[in-house]
Amino acid sequence: MPSPRILILGATGGLGRALHRHLAAHFETTSWGRAELDFEKPDSISARLAAHPFDVLLNAAGMTSPDACEVQPERALLANAVAPQILAECCHARGARMIHFSTDYVFSGVQRDLWFEGDETVPVNVYGRTKLAGEKAVLKASPSALVARVSWLFGPDKPSHPDSIIQRALETDELSAVADKISVPTSNADICGWIEQLIIRHPTTHGLLHLCNSGVASWHSWAEAALAIAAGLEVPVKTTTVQPIELASLTQLKAPRPLLTVMSNAKCQSLLGGEIRNWYDALEEYLVQKYQPQ
Ligand SMILES: NC(=O)c1ccc[n+]([C@@H]2O[C@H](COP(=O)([O-])OP(=O)(O)OC[C@H]3O[C@@H](n4cnc5c(N)ncnc54)[C@H](OP(=O)(O)O)[C@@H]3O)[C@@H](O)[C@H]2O)c1
Repeated sequence: MPSPRILILGATGGLGRALHRHLAAHFETTSWGRAELDFEKPDSISARLAAHPFDVLLNAAGMTSPDACEVQPERALLANAVAPQILAECCHARGARMIHFSTDYVFSGVQRDLWFEGDETVPVNVYGRTKLAGEKAVLKASPSALVARVSWLFGPDKPSHPDSIIQRALETDELSAVADKISVPTSNADICGWIEQLIIRHPTTHGLLHLCNSGVASWHSWAEAALAIAAGLEVPVKTTTVQPIELASLTQLKAPRPLLTVMSNAKCQSLLGGEIRNWYDALEEYLVQKYQPQ
């Protein structure tokens, strides 16, 4: 069977960039950003896609800031649900496979230690509601599509929580982070490896799949882990201690956030075989590459 041609959407995003770098080494890969395909111009999507040959479409584009989505719900709906539906319809019509990225924010975050793929979804903000609408629309329009839910991404292509806490610790020893919000930090590099396997070894896997590292963390424990690793790498942070605070104290946030959204990766582990590593090990590898590149 010939190697599939890949089209990645979200070329300027953290995950999209990582996917391009990883997959272009294995497949004929094209990446488009907003300039090539604007999700807020839904009427242009079908014709644009029809003019480009591909076998697998990876949609890592979307409106990803919960606060921006909360104040611009119409734009969020276009980017996170309307455009993905059109993409899925196009994929279905041409027999291409769609892999669409979604989020742990589809869950309520209430009274649950671990969320499985089949669990009830009750998002608490516009971002989560539009992403959930996108999931449903994609799976309905293209039964062969795979919706990959990810959480708390980090990696070299876009600064995220560990990068910003280390940056702040270079300047001050007075740091705080939310301790009552729990999920799973996940390495973009690890996601790239899983997606490669899903393309090569599991071309017919479809439906919902949680793609996250193992273990759990709060924003607070994730921050302290990043600082401890950085200090061990002789990054001159002024402290490795972070003051724990409650999410409710962040009154400037426009969108409510779900508190407990740890996703089970058991389905992914059994599909791909082998153990999925803990987020801490992936974070350590990322920070070693960042601060002590060979
Ligand atoms: N980051 C996380 O912690 C996290 C957690 C859970 C789920 N996810 C999901 O994972 C996926 C990738 O996230 P990410 O962190 O890589 O996102 P990101 O860095 O914010 O990148 C989003 C991408 O989407 C593009 N985009 C936004 N609006 C668009 C529009 N109207 N038309 C076309 N492109 C548009 C952006 O282009 P511009 O650069 O032009 O804005 C960018 O390329 C998303 O589906 C997200 O919901 C992320």
